[in-house]
Amino acid sequence: MSNFIKDYDNGKKEGRYIHQELPELSFENDSFDLVLSSHFLFLYSEHFDLQFHIDSILEMCRVSKKEVRIFPLLNLKNEKSEYLEPILKTLNDKGFETKIIKTDYEFQKGANELLSIKVHNKTLDRNI
Ligand SMILES: C[S@@+](CC[C@H](N)C(=O)[O-])C[C@H]1O[C@@H](n2cnc3c(N)ncnc32)[C@H](O)[C@@H]1O
Repeated sequence: MSNFIKDYDNGKKEGRYIHQELPELSFENDSFDLVLSSHFLFLYSEHFDLQFHIDSILEMCRVSKKEVRIFPLLNLKNEKSEYLEPILKTLNDKGFETKIIKTDYEFQKGANELLSIKVHNKTLDRNI
């Protein structure tokens, strides 16, 4: 968070902060090594439905060439999001490697896990 705040003014001047809105991103396929979502997906499970989550995550996978990470996995009630299991199934059915990783960082109480999605084999499924 402090790295972001330090970088923000320069990053804006240099055009590195670009406004986009899931579930669609204007970037080309494989634009980034790492694509992150923090405190948005899963957290607002009551406001955005399962289809929105699936579309958004597949879009993030499209623009990433290596990995997508989503943190945390809890909703606003501090419960594991009900979408986690169906999303893992969708991603695994598409051949993505998923892993839940513990984090030291914990902003929301008990929210200390991230979902890592390795996308290197996404060329196996051109439907995304
Ligand atoms: C709780 S804030 C988290 C901010 C920051 N990522 C963090 O972890 O501190 C939720 C963020 O989701 C963003 N957001 C809302 N709707 C969005 C959408 N459709 N696509 C991408 N981001 C969205 C909001 O602009 C807001 O910055």
